[in-house]
Amino acid sequence: MSLVLDPAAQDLLFREARTANTFTDEPVTDEQVQAIYDLVKFGPTAFNQSPLRVVLVRSAEGRERLVQHMAEGNRPKTATAPLVAILAADNEFHEELPALLPHFPQAKDMFFAERPVRESAAGLNAALQAAYFIIGVRAAGLAAGPMTGYDAAGIQKEFLDGDHTPLMVVNIGKPGEDAWFPRSPRLSFDEVVTTV
Ligand SMILES: Cc1cc2nc3c(=O)[nH]c(=O)nc-3n(C[C@H](O)[C@H](O)[C@H](O)COP(=O)(O)O)c2cc1C
Repeated sequence: MSLVLDPAAQDLLFREARTANTFTDEPVTDEQVQAIYDLVKFGPTAFNQSPLRVVLVRSAEGRERLVQHMAEGNRPKTATAPLVAILAADNEFHEELPALLPHFPQAKDMFFAERPVRESAAGLNAALQAAYFIIGVRAAGLAAGPMTGYDAAGIQKEFLDGDHTPLMVVNIGKPGEDAWFPRSPRLSFDEVVTTV
């Protein structure tokens, strides 16, 4: 027994957690989303830069605007999920950095004065936070359906601005009928890990 996490929690977060393609009507509340964020915000990022930004699409009008930018095959699930979140990277995260890294406020100007450097850092670190977010959704007993099949420029224009890059759209809710495909295989430890 190498893992210290309770086996039921291991199942909830990984072994039995699946990417849902259909959902029940049960609402996902703001309290649930806040609890998820307040858990996963502790996941690490470089320099604690924390570049993830989240747009919750709750209104019918917002949902309609989002669905039109999704790939055809993703539209039905984005239209019917109880809650949909647009996860984005803030390429101007350095503005918050002195507050987020009080022991080293000079990092803002030393490392992140240039926009291309910030875009690269924001892309990596917000993607890490997106992964924490998906696991957090599972920790709330909900299923996530992350998607990158969309018109990114369209979503950016419709919901974000030039400083925020869309990373993925996540459908969130309780899995509905026929919610998933058969589980696909994963690479084994030996296929992935080398030791030098
Ligand atoms: C970043 C990302 C993008 C994805 N994009 C799509 C998508 O556009 N459409 C879709 O149907 N599934 C999408 N998926 C779902 C994956 O195919 C699914 O998570 C993967 O096959 C694992 O499925 P499982 O969790 O049921 O084992 C995406 C998943 C991730 C993490």
